[in-house]
Amino acid sequence: MTALGQSAGWWRSAAIYQVYIRSFADGNGDGIGDLAGVRARLDYLAELGIDAIWFTPWYPSPMDDGGYDVADFREIDPLFGTLAEAEDLIAAAHAKGIRVIIDIVPNHCSDEHRWFKEALAAEPGSPERQRFWFRPGRGPDGSEPPNNWKSRFGGSAWTRVPDGEWYLHLYSSRQPDFNWDNQDIRADFEDVLRFWFDRGVDGFRIDVADGLVKDPRLPDVDPGDETPFSDQEGLHEIYRSWRKIADSYPGDRVMVGEMWLPDMSRAARYLRRDELHAAFNFDFLVCPWDSERFRDVIERTLAAHDEVGAPAAWVLSNHDVTRHVTRYGREGDTGFAFADRLHGTPVDRELGTRRARAAALLTMALPGGLYVYQGEELGLWEIEDIPDGLRQDPVWTRTNGADPGRDGCRVPLPWSGDAPPFGFGTGGTWLPQPEEWRSSTAEAQAADPASMLRLYRAGLRLRSELPALGPGGLEWLTQGDGVLAFTREPDFTFVLNFSDKPVALPPHREVLMASGPVEGELPTDTAVWLRT
Ligand code: GLC
Ligand code: CA
Repeated sequence: MTALGQSAGWWRSAAIYQVYIRSFADGNGDGIGDLAGVRARLDYLAELGIDAIWFTPWYPSPMDDGGYDVADFREIDPLFGTLAEAEDLIAAAHAKGIRVIIDIVPNHCSDEHRWFKEALAAEPGSPERQRFWFRPGRGPDGSEPPNNWKSRFGGSAWTRVPDGEWYLHLYSSRQPDFNWDNQDIRADFEDVLRFWFDRGVDGFRIDVADGLVKDPRLPDVDPGDETPFSDQEGLHEIYRSWRKIADSYPGDRVMVGEMWLPDMSRAARYLRRDELHAAFNFDFLVCPWDSERFRDVIERTLAAHDEVGAPAAWVLSNHDVTRHVTRYGREGDTGFAFADRLHGTPVDRELGTRRARAAALLTMALPGGLYVYQGEELGLWEIEDIPDGLRQDPVWTRTNGADPGRDGCRVPLPWSGDAPPFGFGTGGTWLPQPEEWRSSTAEAQAADPASMLRLYRAGLRLRSELPALGPGGLEWLTQGDGVLAFTREPDFTFVLNFSDKPVALPPHREVLMASGPVEGELPTDTAVWLRT
């Protein structure tokens, strides 16, 4: 018997912590985070009060894209550990009441995956090549790519092989896209799901979940149009078959889709009863710091999800975007866009931190699930001055430096001590940590009642105790311009003051939590939880 208890539907309001393994904690001193490092820090996660961990890919990989280029879906990369250690870690997490979700990357694999190597060795038109998207080129000598699709990491989405054919890759050239019209691919992924369910995982985070199915005509697109490779109707059938597999296992196994769809009601169609359990709501990532805009995101999200009976899944940060302390510390547009990271523009970190604290209490108070990206509980900011020579993200090289890439949110965590590597491990760190993280370590923050870490611990604990913060909806409260406020049954009120002057608090019996000092009035960029 594990400590997980009988909580059917746990995922509907779970707080899920994203572990980006290579940057979490290093167990063997080589400067790269690993499973032993996570194992040694499970108590930290239990104390934080999270319900589950989501591990980013831990599979064997040449690490061209931080492990999102998978060479074998049924093994662990030796850099991170062994399969036995993974099984052990799953069991150890369960024993502490923490569930485990792993990343699955079905849109593409690594160029070192056995099937891609076989495809390269085989003839054009062969069954081996049909597992991917190989096509002849255009132009008299076939030297032009088969269509005008762009890689999401920059440059063409096609690379030519020595015999003259081209293969499709929506990401780096080392990440060939699978052809999901091919039955081998379907059967193999179903088997991969079973492989890990058999080893005790509680679910999967599905990478690029909207992209697997392509329009087989591979038509040219207008700039910005993703129709032939995103949200294709054929996807639903794939997820229905996956859902059947998840449901065939004991316990409550879940599937969470990574979908960047502009139209929320389209995304919600994947959350119908017999498809995925949840999908990330990324709208906060692009939402400016403005009460009306936040309210609009929340309203639209809850309405779209209610239609299909699915919970929302709130996200403030992840391993792909500028950390939100930095986003919120920028004047004007505090949103995040891939094309425009506002990299290097001035950041008021104090302001960003104050807003990040308020946003944390907001997401913890909303109906639905919540994702916490490692380090956000420490209030870490984006590291924007990584020396070019140390940058690892293929986005940086494929855009010729136009986009700095995502390394700045992936710097190894500071755990303790006064100098790098700040207890990350006994060796160095694969990306340099700033000296200023001295006061951001988990150790330093645990001792400081006013720290971000203590806010997260207290907020997550209270969230799991208060009946009002379980499943159930919210009612908006009108509190004046620039103020976002809502109530939740039976006795809870949330208020966040986005305006530039202090505002009065609504009637209440008790201030349960506040993101900053509150004396009578609620200051700018501050949130409170009230018992009413
Ligand atoms: C997802 C991942 C990202 C990765 C990409 C390609 O968006 O979150 O990190 O680079 O897919 O696998
Ligand atoms: Ca290591």
